[in-house]
Amino acid sequence: KKSKDRDKGKKRKHLRQKRDESPSSSEEDSKKRSLCYSFNLLDAADPQIWISSCDGPPSNNNIVSSYFLQESEPELSQAEKQKQSLQEVRRSLPIFPYRQDLLAAIRDHQILVIEGETGSGKTTQIPQYLLEDVQYKLSGTRMKIGCTQPRRVAAMSVAARVAQEMSVKLGNEVGYSIRFEDCTSERTILKYMTDGMLLREFLTEPDLASYSVIIIDEAHERTLHTDILFGLIKDIARFRPDLKVLVASATLDTERFSCFFDDAPVFRIPGRRFPVDIYYTKAPEADYLEACVVSVLQIHVTQPAGDVLVFLTGQEEIEACCELLQERCRRLGSKISELIVLPIYANLPSDMQAKIFNPTPPGARKVVVATNIAETSLTIDGIIYVIDPGFCKQKSYNARTGMESLIVTPCSRASANQRAGRAGRVAAGKCFRLYTAWAFKHEMEETSIPEIQRTNLGNVVLLLKSLGINDLIHFDFMDPPPHETLVLALEQLYALGALNHLGELTKLGRRMAELPVDPMLSKMILASEHYKCSEEILTVAAMLSVNNSIFYRPKDKVVHADNARMNFVVPGGDHIVLLNVYTQSGYSTQWCFENFIQFRSMKRARDVRDQLEGLMDRIEVELSSCSGESVPIRKAVTAGYFYHTARLSKGGYKTVKHQQTVFVHPNSSLFEEQPRWMIYHELVFTTKEFMRQVIEIESGWLLEVAPHYYKNKELEDSSSKKMPRKQGKAREELG
Ligand code: CDP
Ligand code: MG
Repeated sequence: KKSKDRDKGKKRKHLRQKRDESPSSSEEDSKKRSLCYSFNLLDAADPQIWISSCDGPPSNNNIVSSYFLQESEPELSQAEKQKQSLQEVRRSLPIFPYRQDLLAAIRDHQILVIEGETGSGKTTQIPQYLLEDVQYKLSGTRMKIGCTQPRRVAAMSVAARVAQEMSVKLGNEVGYSIRFEDCTSERTILKYMTDGMLLREFLTEPDLASYSVIIIDEAHERTLHTDILFGLIKDIARFRPDLKVLVASATLDTERFSCFFDDAPVFRIPGRRFPVDIYYTKAPEADYLEACVVSVLQIHVTQPAGDVLVFLTGQEEIEACCELLQERCRRLGSKISELIVLPIYANLPSDMQAKIFNPTPPGARKVVVATNIAETSLTIDGIIYVIDPGFCKQKSYNARTGMESLIVTPCSRASANQRAGRAGRVAAGKCFRLYTAWAFKHEMEETSIPEIQRTNLGNVVLLLKSLGINDLIHFDFMDPPPHETLVLALEQLYALGALNHLGELTKLGRRMAELPVDPMLSKMILASEHYKCSEEILTVAAMLSVNNSIFYRPKDKVVHADNARMNFVVPGGDHIVLLNVYTQSGYSTQWCFENFIQFRSMKRARDVRDQLEGLMDRIEVELSSCSGESVPIRKAVTAGYFYHTARLSKGGYKTVKHQQTVFVHPNSSLFEEQPRWMIYHELVFTTKEFMRQVIEIESGWLLEVAPHYYKNKELEDSSSKKMPRKQGKAREELG
């Protein structure tokens, strides 16, 4: 692995040199000042003893949103005022002066790479410029403009913003499309969508004939789907000279995009960035969550006005941080001014997400606690302070074992600099890095590894096969995936029955590709037909897709919440428990509240289920029910997830194929039970490899659903007794 990393390092060297020649202001600052900032000295409970460790006189940053500068014109109606001020904001964006040049460049070139600082207006403005452009209007074809986003949240919020700027109703002229949610109509001419959705559109429209412009936005994120889009779009651009392709990126890696797209010109939008002072800790932080909380409070008490942005790795951490902050603020009461604490992460319901964009009332301070969604995809006005613990959650994939897991890892230097940059959008800002300057220099990677090189490719391989692309080895990848990952994906699809021994798509494979879910989940749904339990399996699939956010577990009511959860436990395992929750749930918020179930997640599960049910017709699966009987349901799950089998043996659970040690997640209904054979939905690495969402199975089922994959011998039971419990410790470790 080391030598591979070295190779990667070499490849990136030329980029690094480039960057070294023109260090961003934040990097420069960090070198110059290398200040120390110690958080541990502070006692959050007693603001009296807090000392400002930041030197220099506090500048009074005046951050009044331009939305509210219209009050002196009483003759205008509220709506008109808002519209006018929105137009002013539009004209004040860094991209605005380049409008004509940009349009000219787009006219002159088929493919254009557009580089600009986050917040300069690429995502919201470029499509509007095109729509307002005379030439575009003259062409009169009413073909669509499509703009991809790696994240659902960004697609939704940006579409909402642009609809507002254009004074149209969201879903009419401007809409968005994300998995399981289509907010577009016949009238839609500007469509924001996730990169995964555009990829799926190739299935129904291989040349994207209804689009005149495709904007691949946030290209620097290098998500798997974006990378695949690069190859496909480059290909169709050759035989569709009328199609305009814009590749938009933050100021990262643009040379590489240009190079990939046959030296397409790069249009640079000069940034408008204020200097950001970088502070490091003296020593590594043992508990970065606590350090975040203390830092926020310290900023709140000692620093001039300005909102705070905190980067954490995921929903659980973010919720914990928000709760801690709120609790401490409550304790401090009127000793401090108002602190508005707002979370933002992908699974957060959209009405909650929208709150982060509300301007902060005078006298208060807003703290947004975010995943790296706020690194480049979302721009929140008014941020002056950034707190960066230096971690992110990353998918990692072991191509030997086929195990995919989410791991909290140090973020890259490029990420850290993006994060710091968020503090300098409206005025000079400060970024507090909760790690040492040494760690920044020596422990962090220069840039992140593209997702395509660290993920399971099953999904995209199935998709590419359905598009008739058979030779995947020679597909035009910007960075090719590791050979073994590709081979494993083919093997897995073969084992699932989606490909035949020649690597060609089977009828089953074609049906699987129709569903916008992972191959294993697809297979599970298709297998439910055979086991006459498709009604139940659709529910299970929908509940699994809302991703661990069904049960509400507030810190101050952990016991009540856990008891409520226990009430749903039925034999068989977590999938059956989820089904039970869904079946029992009324449509009332009251019911959800009383049972510690997240109402919004349930609502979303219902939406997802409706969508999936709507697709059953297309893949010719007849709806049938087994009246909740658990064996057929578990067999259908096994038919999709037989790869994810673990067996109880000495020392705990081991995966069957690769003898990897794995643990039942303490939140599982089977945590105490320890059945001999289990199937897990996913692995999550926190303190160790935990299996999340597990069901009990019988080994014989494996031979029934995957005779070509499992051999009788592998499934022989050597042990005769149940293993002693060894998991109490795991629960402690998780807290
Ligand atoms: O794509 P890029 O990062 O270059 O910028 P953008 O997303 O087009 O954002 C331009 C401006 O629109 C931001 O600075 C925000 O002021 C505003 N915006 C907003 O208020 N609400 C959103 N949901 C998105 C953008
Ligand atoms: Mg953008």
